[in-house]
Amino acid sequence: MFEGKTILTGVKPTGTPHLGNYLGAIKPAIALGNKALEQGGKHYMFIADYHAINAEKNPEILREKTKEISCIYLASGLDPEKSFFFRQSDIPEIPEITTILYAYTPKGFMNKAHAYKAAVDKNREAGKPDDDGINMGLYTYPTLMAADIVAYDSDIVPVGKDQVQHVEIARDIAGAINAHYNKELLKLPTYYFDDNVAVVPGVDGRKMSKSYGNVIPLFEDDKSIKKAIFSIKTDSRPMEEPKNPDEILVYEIYKSIATPEQLKEMGDGLRQGKLGYGHIKNMLLDAVIAEIKEAREKYNYYMSHFDEVEEMLQKGAQKARPAAQATLKRLKDAVFGR
Ligand code: ADP
Ligand code: TRP
Repeated sequence: MFEGKTILTGVKPTGTPHLGNYLGAIKPAIALGNKALEQGGKHYMFIADYHAINAEKNPEILREKTKEISCIYLASGLDPEKSFFFRQSDIPEIPEITTILYAYTPKGFMNKAHAYKAAVDKNREAGKPDDDGINMGLYTYPTLMAADIVAYDSDIVPVGKDQVQHVEIARDIAGAINAHYNKELLKLPTYYFDDNVAVVPGVDGRKMSKSYGNVIPLFEDDKSIKKAIFSIKTDSRPMEEPKNPDEILVYEIYKSIATPEQLKEMGDGLRQGKLGYGHIKNMLLDAVIAEIKEAREKYNYYMSHFDEVEEMLQKGAQKARPAAQATLKRLKDAVFGR
């Protein structure tokens, strides 16, 4: 389905990615991009730093998070020679395209956008006025995201569930512009949502999320990873008692990382009362460390040689810009009748 298609992914440099982000977003995004490349397509992967400033105002934190996220993607197998890998803020055409798209963005779309609605709901729960602390960047961010998407003629945008609506908004805006000028000025994007990517539970059994503080860290040292894994909730049943693996949280987390053979071994051991909680936590720990070992080494290298990464990002922006320039020109020519 990716033959000759342009795939685009944007990632906000906020928070420090955890194992759930890695297994649920980072790895699948890189795999999908590589698949598109193998099939003669293009892969754009950018750091959505203009999106991040709506919430994060501290430049040091923004710089650090951008550094972290770019090193994580490179360490996890993104090839900057083959994929377009760059910072959003290094493409000056994006805010220009956004301005044109604003004129075709019904305000009602923004009122209904998830990110804004979630912020309003949070305010209501806290008994605050609806728009408390909400800036125009957050309110209008689906239009900026639409500009990201149309700028590079994206066909397919792989997303998590929460972002589906935003891609639909991008498609609607692009469609409205094409209809108005009766010309295919912008490529209509579709989203791609992978049902097979499982939600990884956190150490307390809820979805692993930075906002719940229940994460297994990604590229920290073995000790920190071990500490998180050994804090996974268990009960006080003795090892000998046969257990249903599907009721055991360690097993649930193991599912997202283990091979079928490894999973069977843990499942059988639990059912037969041959594996205790200490054993299975160690099995999970070994699997996590094996999964990230190579990537962690690369990550540490890139973090301490960021000048090399910066160069890759700059080169990536140079390679990505012509597509955005061409889109902007098409738009300006049509809009201003040039
Ligand atoms: P968090 O919940 O930690 O704030 P984000 O909402 O920033 O994470 O998610 C970033 C990406 O990681 C999204 O694509 C999301 O679907 C994915 N993701 C986040 N948590 C998990 C999880 N526990 N399991 C699988 N994927 C996840
Ligand atoms: N809004 C996305 C998020 O919060 C990030 C993003 C910005 C994006 N622009 C994009 C994702 C374009 C896909 C395509 O995760």
